[in-house]
Amino acid sequence: MNKAVAINGSPRMERGYTAMVLAPFIEGLMDAGSDVETFYTGHLKIKPCACGEMYCWYKQPGECCLKDDMQMLYPKVKRARILILATPVYMPLPGQMQDFVNRLCPLVEPFLQTRGGRTRARFREDVQIRKIVLVSTGGWWEKGNFDTVVHITQELAENAGVEFAGAVIRPHAFLMKKRGQLTEEGKAILDAVRRAGYDLVKNGMIAKETFDAISRPLLSEDELRDRYNGLV
Ligand SMILES: Cc1cc2nc3c(=O)[nH]c(=O)nc-3n(C[C@H](O)[C@H](O)[C@H](O)COP(=O)(O)O)c2cc1C
Repeated sequence: MNKAVAINGSPRMERGYTAMVLAPFIEGLMDAGSDVETFYTGHLKIKPCACGEMYCWYKQPGECCLKDDMQMLYPKVKRARILILATPVYMPLPGQMQDFVNRLCPLVEPFLQTRGGRTRARFREDVQIRKIVLVSTGGWWEKGNFDTVVHITQELAENAGVEFAGAVIRPHAFLMKKRGQLTEEGKAILDAVRRAGYDLVKNGMIAKETFDAISRPLLSEDELRDRYNGLV
C-alpha cells in the first residue's frame, strides 16, 4: 500500500481553512489507493529542537534526544512514501509547524554533499519518503504570499534528496464559504483539490491546470483589500 502522512500545522486544526482544503486532497489520495494518516501538530506535544550540537547527527545518529510525540510520529513518517505538509501562511509558518520541520533532522543522513551548488544531504536509508507536497491556505489576495512557505517546503525536499511534488495553495481561502456554507466556486475548488490528490498517486504528478484551478482568484485584488479595510 502506498502510504502517506499529512501533518496539519494549523492552530485552528479541524475548524481551519487548511483542514477544509486538506480533506479533499486526502480523499483524492485515498481514492487512488493511498493509505493516509493525518496528524495535527496542535493535538501533539512537539518540543522545539533543543538537543544542541546536532545530537541526532553526530552524537546519536538517527536518534532524537527529546522524548515527546515525535517518537510516535517518526516510524509513521519514515514508512510514508508521500509526506504532506499542510499549513496556513503565518509569515511564514505557525511555530508548531516549524518545530515539526526542524524535528525531521534525525531522519536525514549526516553526510553532506554539494548538489547544484548547495550543501545538501539525504534521508536515511530506512526512510521511505519519495515526495513532499505542500497544502497551504492564506488570507490575502496574491499567490506571492505563499512564496516563503513554498520555498521552505522545497528546501526541505532538496535537503533530503526527494522530489518536491508541488504546492496546492489557496489564497483568500475564507471566500470559499459564505455564511458558513461552501459556495459553488468553493465546491469546484475542492473538486480540483481532490483531483490533485488523486493524480499525485495515479500519475505521480499534479497537472499545472489543476494547480491553477485551485489557486484562481475569487475576486479582484482591489475588492478584497476594500473588504479587509471595511470599505464595502
Ligand atoms: C498570525 C497570522 C499571520 C498571517 N499571515 C498571513 C500572511 O502573511 N499571508 C496571508 O495570505 N495570510 C496570512 N494569514 C491568514 C491565514 O493564513 C489564513 O486565514 C488561513 O486560511 C488560515 O488557515 P486556518 O484556518 O487553517 O488557520 C495570517 C493569519 C494569522 C493568524
